[in-house]
Amino acid sequence: EKGGYDYFMLKEIAEQPKAVADTLLGRIDESGRLALDEVHIPDHVLREVNKVVIVACGTAYHAGMIAKYAIEHWTRIPCETELASEFRYRDPILDQRTLVVAISQSGETMDTLMALRHAREQGAKVLAICNTNGSTIPRESDAVLYTHAGPEVAVASTKAFLTQLVACYLVALYLGQVRGTKWGDEIHSVIRELSQISTEVEKVLATMEPVRELARSLAEKNTVLFLGRHVGFPVALEGALKLKELAYMHAEGFAAGELKHGPIALIEDDLPVVVVVPSPRGRSVLHDKIVSNIQEIRARGARTIVIAEEGDEAVVPYADHLVRIPATPTLLQPLVATVPLQVFACELATARGNEVDQPRNLAKSVTVE
Ligand code: F6R
Repeated sequence: EKGGYDYFMLKEIAEQPKAVADTLLGRIDESGRLALDEVHIPDHVLREVNKVVIVACGTAYHAGMIAKYAIEHWTRIPCETELASEFRYRDPILDQRTLVVAISQSGETMDTLMALRHAREQGAKVLAICNTNGSTIPRESDAVLYTHAGPEVAVASTKAFLTQLVACYLVALYLGQVRGTKWGDEIHSVIRELSQISTEVEKVLATMEPVRELARSLAEKNTVLFLGRHVGFPVALEGALKLKELAYMHAEGFAAGELKHGPIALIEDDLPVVVVVPSPRGRSVLHDKIVSNIQEIRARGARTIVIAEEGDEAVVPYADHLVRIPATPTLLQPLVATVPLQVFACELATARGNEVDQPRNLAKSVTVE
């Protein structure tokens, strides 16, 4: 049942190109437009939406953080992403024009369920992004967009995360399409790139041996830090979460711009720091800033593990270890940048003798608040 892999997690990491392709299947028509009739929220309702609120937990929350960048950029609708467990306790401002997006692999997470119940009581429309047919969260939502990752058995979420991202991009692009935002041309080119992305994920998977080797060499470390900017920031948080839950190591993700506001004090000799580097094309200001961040931490002794796009030469002099990922549009980069972090955490867990598919103290679906 593990299809020749030692762990479900390895199998599920390997299934990501298919999971991504399946989640796009039938949702882009021949003319390159999105066809999401299955969502069953009428266009006039989507045109009226004046705020999007995303609620989710854990890895799904990281997908939601990335979605915020995409939704605001492509649709110009204000968007906030909140931990489901915090959401209802702060008396959030919601009404009929609020679209709440609840993201959940299992569809049974109690925190997310309670958040969406609260949202519906306030009159908001709830769209679920879910991987499990007929589970409670989609049943209690106004609409659902299923991710087609297939069953995810390993406790640590991998392929579900990539498909949650795809679903979030589809929702963002669809909102843009329905509302005819000024990003029209960009939307079409992004849809084209998105339909190619499964091949890019495949390419990343084919180059992971050095990442595994690196992970094994770090098995005795106590701490690993992760840095990113823009959509690379949630990717850094996700890399750190994977390492905590699988390798039981102290791992933290930071927005690289925050370093100087405190965390840089943590940098000491030979501390492994993973840095997710934005594309030097696109928003190059961000790229240049992160290159200075890498220089700063390296000057203070950090061992830099740099994840950067093919052809990005600026990072080479400051990378102790360089992991290449294919060039993608800025907002889609998490789909390729997350993969090495999953492999890294899985290999470190194995090297430390941990149970990969069933980490201690964790359950696959968390049905208590
Ligand atoms: C991390 C992980 C958890 C889940 C979280 C939400 O690898 O698996 O953080 O992402 O418990 O679960 P779902 O998506 O089922 O609501």
